[in-house]
Amino acid sequence: MIETVANIIGSTLEGELTTSEIASLLEKPKHQHLGDLAFPCFTLAKKFRQAPQQIAQSIAEKINHPFIEDVQVVGAYINFFVNQVVVTQQVLTDIVGKGDNYAQLEKNGQRVVIDFSSPNIAKPFSMGHLRSTVIGNALANIAQKNGYTTIRVNHLGDWGTQFGKLIVAYHMWGSKEAIDKAPIQELLKLYVKFHDEAEQNETLNADARAAFKALEDEDAEALALWEWFKNASLEEFKGIYEQLGITFDSFEGEAFYNDKMQAVVDELITKQLLTVSDGANVVELEHMPPCLITKQDGATLYATRDLAAAFYRQHHYTPEKIFYVVGNEQSLHFKQVFNVIDKMGYPWAKDLQHIPFGMILKDGKKMSTRKGRVILLKDVLDEAIQTAKQNILDKNPALPNLEEVAQQVGVGAVIFNDLKNFRLNDIEFSLEQMMNFEGETGPYVQYTVARISSLLEKAAFTPTNVVLKELEEQAWSTIVCLQDYPKALQEAYEQADPSIVAKYVLQLARAFNKYYGNTKILVEDAARESRLVLCYSVTTVLKDGLKLLGLQAPRNM
Ligand code: ARG
Repeated sequence: MIETVANIIGSTLEGELTTSEIASLLEKPKHQHLGDLAFPCFTLAKKFRQAPQQIAQSIAEKINHPFIEDVQVVGAYINFFVNQVVVTQQVLTDIVGKGDNYAQLEKNGQRVVIDFSSPNIAKPFSMGHLRSTVIGNALANIAQKNGYTTIRVNHLGDWGTQFGKLIVAYHMWGSKEAIDKAPIQELLKLYVKFHDEAEQNETLNADARAAFKALEDEDAEALALWEWFKNASLEEFKGIYEQLGITFDSFEGEAFYNDKMQAVVDELITKQLLTVSDGANVVELEHMPPCLITKQDGATLYATRDLAAAFYRQHHYTPEKIFYVVGNEQSLHFKQVFNVIDKMGYPWAKDLQHIPFGMILKDGKKMSTRKGRVILLKDVLDEAIQTAKQNILDKNPALPNLEEVAQQVGVGAVIFNDLKNFRLNDIEFSLEQMMNFEGETGPYVQYTVARISSLLEKAAFTPTNVVLKELEEQAWSTIVCLQDYPKALQEAYEQADPSIVAKYVLQLARAFNKYYGNTKILVEDAARESRLVLCYSVTTVLKDGLKLLGLQAPRNM
């Protein structure tokens, strides 16, 4: 609609403003009685050196187009009332014709790498990693919808001194059976025990350093243990990904860069960027602490691996952008890494983007292991699924595939709760709220889809060529919302903000439910088919939006 109106305005201006300039000036009036779009004439007033009111008047007089039903000049604004029948026909025909492909942009040949989830081996999958996982997944889906080819990378935390500690702890207190049974739980126990014991026994730390050194020198036994810990942890993580329905193109974690860091260090030396500070080799940076590259003993660090990873990805994938979906608390780390690459003289440093997010709070407080406020993801999902099951049973006790639907609704509720707020906001974890079928929740949107689906089933509706009859006035806000979908997706990508899509599906569901509450969809009159087309279009877009966010939409619930 914006595009079309911008073109119409443009045709009266003789090239004074481009269509996209006009489009960016167009506003949505606060009230529907002021029209569908408003065009402010202040910018043109400067260009033409005329009063904006006068310009508004003269443009309004020139407008004559079937798309526009009425124009009204109010002060410096021209208010446009579009022809609702024409717009409705256009939007619904587009959706019915394209189905799931509505708003799908053609492949633009550009790639984006999305580094997300990236949990640490031998440690529990935290709620922070859950946030990274669902935000990263949604972002990747949104990028694809915008025509990009995505490379989903899980930058596993599978290297570092903690593996030396684990190897020592395993030798002293570990048991193969226990680890095989519950790898992460058992490895975490060993890790904690190591720290407790090391407080009394200093030699343990030296042993751990030696064990890690052996690992770095590719000692066969150390490597075998590391590999085992890694695979066992990964097995558990994969269970979580399966439950969330999330996949990756690569699990190249930190260890993958072991043989790729020396080249970076060498280049830093050649470019005279490496300096010694407190015995470590660092790159000095302006307005922030230096970036640590190697320790005294030559050991590399988290940042060194991220540098090597950036170079690898840049050369391997030649991406348009690399997104790092990682919590807010690592902002400095990414600033440092990006700055180092910039100092090395690579212009693509500007294509690296940290996508930070806030914390998950419980009762308004940060979750903390020590204070017992920690929540395990597995328990969260299980509880959400149980609650979903109960809620569904109350509404629909005879639902045949209850388990499957409960899974989709429970997991969906958790994901949606995460994505509906701007990612930098902290989010409160309340199972009761996120499950509410009437609230701003995943289940609410899913329930809307299910209700429409059963309606369409009842009517035995199949989308064919749409010949529309005039719809009720009340349908208009739903139509406007439907045609806003492509714009919402574009904004969500540009701002790397999936909450735009989450808010969009809520808005569409709300608009439709309002209409639905006041309309007899199935009544046999001339507009019945048109109403069904509208219903079909709404489910199509809601399902697509949910899918982008990572939620499934059961047909029945
Ligand atoms: N494993 C890290 C952590 O849990 C996150 C890694 C994020 N990605 C990256 N390229 N640094 O804190």
